[in-house]
Amino acid sequence: MNVLGIESSCDETGASVVVDGQTMLSNVVASSLELHRFYGGVVPEIAARIHIHSIIPVIEEALQIAKMTWQDIDAIAVTYGAGLGGCLLVGVMTARTLAITKNKPLYAVNHVAGHVCANFITNTNLTDYNLPKNQPQFPLLALIVSGGHSQLVYYKNHFNYHLLGQTRDDAIGEAFDKVAKIIGLPYPGGPSIAKAALKGDQNLYKFTKARMPKYDFSFSGLKTAVLRLSQELIGEDHRFPSYMVSERLNLTQKANIAASFQRISIETVVDKALIAYQEFTPKSFVIAGGVASSQELRKQVSNRFPIEVLYTDPKLCTDNGAMIASLGYYQAKFNFGIADPYSLAINPSLSM
Ligand code: KG4
Ligand code: ZN
Repeated sequence: MNVLGIESSCDETGASVVVDGQTMLSNVVASSLELHRFYGGVVPEIAARIHIHSIIPVIEEALQIAKMTWQDIDAIAVTYGAGLGGCLLVGVMTARTLAITKNKPLYAVNHVAGHVCANFITNTNLTDYNLPKNQPQFPLLALIVSGGHSQLVYYKNHFNYHLLGQTRDDAIGEAFDKVAKIIGLPYPGGPSIAKAALKGDQNLYKFTKARMPKYDFSFSGLKTAVLRLSQELIGEDHRFPSYMVSERLNLTQKANIAASFQRISIETVVDKALIAYQEFTPKSFVIAGGVASSQELRKQVSNRFPIEVLYTDPKLCTDNGAMIASLGYYQAKFNFGIADPYSLAINPSLSM
């Protein structure tokens, strides 16, 4: 079954053709990231406007790379939540229109569950992809870490899952982005903190981990701790404006803060994932979402987990259409989530 996946929940416009949820024939992603950098975060209106320009060319390119025409496509899958309202609308309205005009069944996909499904893509002829050699097995424990989510989810199968815990405030990716802003590193914070951390001492600053009930997380205190430390390092008190801190930090201080923050924030999620792994003894454990591309996260997981954990390519960790196509296939296969193309609505705050 050839599924066209469409993703537009944030600043990436993605389209991809995936066969049987597993074999990726194309994966086209256009990003408006450069336009948001100046603002230090995604500006929803700008992102939505750019989706309008990109979405048709991105879909056409995905079909072309997959060497397919509309006749070859068996279904369309689209992200309908969670995400930015204006951005989701562009993807959903496009998918609805195509489903009607091309006469294809439409599947409404949960973006966050889609991130987990990226780990089920194991084959491709596309160059430059390093995919896991096997699909994960159920029961499955997933650590979902992105710009909008930090969650631990226990899956009995694709559609029977239980949210074990989640962040009470900022998502971990959001904390990376905010900390990067405080210390003057470019958006998005994850990759720029990882880069700066290479030159820093990850044990220099002892940030404390938030103590939260069982599988819940909290990152806003850690972000404030970074701000207080930065103010102290430049000899100012807590009243000093955060936006003026970075210009007075030197490169060594920035690298040490980046490395210490990265270590402790990643350790926080790995600690809880490991406790959940021991309690639920799943067959597989996967990491998903933009922060899953973190080398520090992969290193800590590999060092601490008692089973072999497989990782997907970083390009499938950040937002893309392939993960949506993959989950769309499973929805079709198990008769779950078929949508009415005349009425499918977006759901910006959709939860797991
Ligand atoms: O999944 P994603 O592309 O979008 C959301 O659904 O949120 O995740 C984006 C997030 C950003 O917060 C970005 O800073 C983070 O993923 N990220 C990383 C890395 N690459 C991207 N965080 C840590 N380390 C990375 N290498
Ligand atoms: Zn995402």
